[in-house]
Amino acid sequence: MNPLHDEMKKRYEDMMTSLQHDDTDPYALAFHVMPPTGWLNDPNGACQVDGVYHLYYQYSPYDALGGLKYWGHYTSTDLVHFKDEGLALLPDQPYDLHGVYSGSAFVEGEEIHYFYTGNVKHLGEHDYITSGREQNTVHAVSYDGGMTIEKKRVVMDSNAYPSFLSNHIRDPKVRKVDDQYFMVLGARDLKSQGLVVMYRSDNLTDWTYHGSFLGPLEGMGYMWECPDFFSLNDQEVLILSPQGLAEDGLQYQNVYQSGYYIGDVDWENVTFDPKSDFIELDRGFDFYAPQTFEDESGRRVMWAWMGLPDAEYQNPVDHGWQHAMTLPRVLTVENQNLIQRPHPNYQQLRQNEEQRVVNITEGAYEYFTGKVAELHCTFDTVTQLEISIRKDVSLSYDTTTQLLTLALGASGHGRGQRQIKLEKLSELQLFLDRSSLEVFVNDGAYVMTTRMYLEPTEDKVEVTGELQGIIYHWLLDK
Ligand code: FRU
Repeated sequence: MNPLHDEMKKRYEDMMTSLQHDDTDPYALAFHVMPPTGWLNDPNGACQVDGVYHLYYQYSPYDALGGLKYWGHYTSTDLVHFKDEGLALLPDQPYDLHGVYSGSAFVEGEEIHYFYTGNVKHLGEHDYITSGREQNTVHAVSYDGGMTIEKKRVVMDSNAYPSFLSNHIRDPKVRKVDDQYFMVLGARDLKSQGLVVMYRSDNLTDWTYHGSFLGPLEGMGYMWECPDFFSLNDQEVLILSPQGLAEDGLQYQNVYQSGYYIGDVDWENVTFDPKSDFIELDRGFDFYAPQTFEDESGRRVMWAWMGLPDAEYQNPVDHGWQHAMTLPRVLTVENQNLIQRPHPNYQQLRQNEEQRVVNITEGAYEYFTGKVAELHCTFDTVTQLEISIRKDVSLSYDTTTQLLTLALGASGHGRGQRQIKLEKLSELQLFLDRSSLEVFVNDGAYVMTTRMYLEPTEDKVEVTGELQGIIYHWLLDK
């Protein structure tokens, strides 16, 4: 019995019952997860159990500009069509009263164990770093395959963390190796340096601090959020979302970054030794806080928030909602790089296939129509290329500069362009939804993700330049 819980749940259900479907919304996404109403941020608790995929997410149902965080919940049996399952976790306990923050799921036998950050803010004057906030690590369990979640206990409260850390410690992710459970948490130390800390357990209940897993590292920012670590294709991968990186050439152009290291884990000392530089996961405008899980067929699948915190640019919220998830992407490690490919199930949506062998020379062009579409180009040669999307967004490549440029026009509100240096452009796969674009480059070697708010009347995709190749075009079933 928790009267607060019941009252909060009822308030939400009442709102949802009276919510009118807005079919005038030109930005509503056709094949991406968006919130039923209000604000969405990080993917949480992603997992697959008995064939059902669960995607929980940071959810502020009452305000499209953000606010008190709950966990929303979608399920899917194919990763393409999703069912809204309502609220999964509510901020209804003294230890998570100001937000059920991000966390993850760990499947063990018939049970799903969730670990998340219970956020509590204290009244009064506080400096942001050392006081006024509790970040409790909370354990919750589902005994019915993810449909209901029971909160169990705080496994680490704010006093449990080592004293060199600030009060920013959050976003637990758990992994089992042999008989041991390992939990990584993102943190900021008292010198405002980001790091990933490690906890260990034999039973998922009692956790002991085991030191820094990685960091702080020179030049790597003041806070690391949402760590994720796993082994893939015999390599160890550590994903994190650092804040406070300085722009570096074409890299780190957004307010915050998300990226990865490939390295070795010293299991005796439980530390991570990077073999690679930190590599950005996405080179577009809107990508943050990715989370991965291993599905029941052994694939490593990743979602990310197709948005960013604290970005100067605000998405339109006129239709009562803001932000969405990326497409689920399948990860592999190839030649020391993390490769991201769109989940193959999205091929189910393809209809009205058109295949064109193109030989475009100066002045010539091809065009396609469709706001909800996929375009797959394989090039024999590209000297120059411009793909113009619904007049205001352009993707271009030039062999002389070797730059692939994604540029937003007036609708980008000054966000400008993002670029990747590419010796050779051999392939592009574009997923166009009503207000988003994901560009997979050279078979998943790079991805550029962005939201876009284009004139609803425009629906042309035009290809010009000097190139030869094959372009497939599909309209996608909504
Ligand atoms: C990342 C993040 C997490 C936190 C959550 C709160 O976007 O800031 O660190 O747990 O969002 O919504």
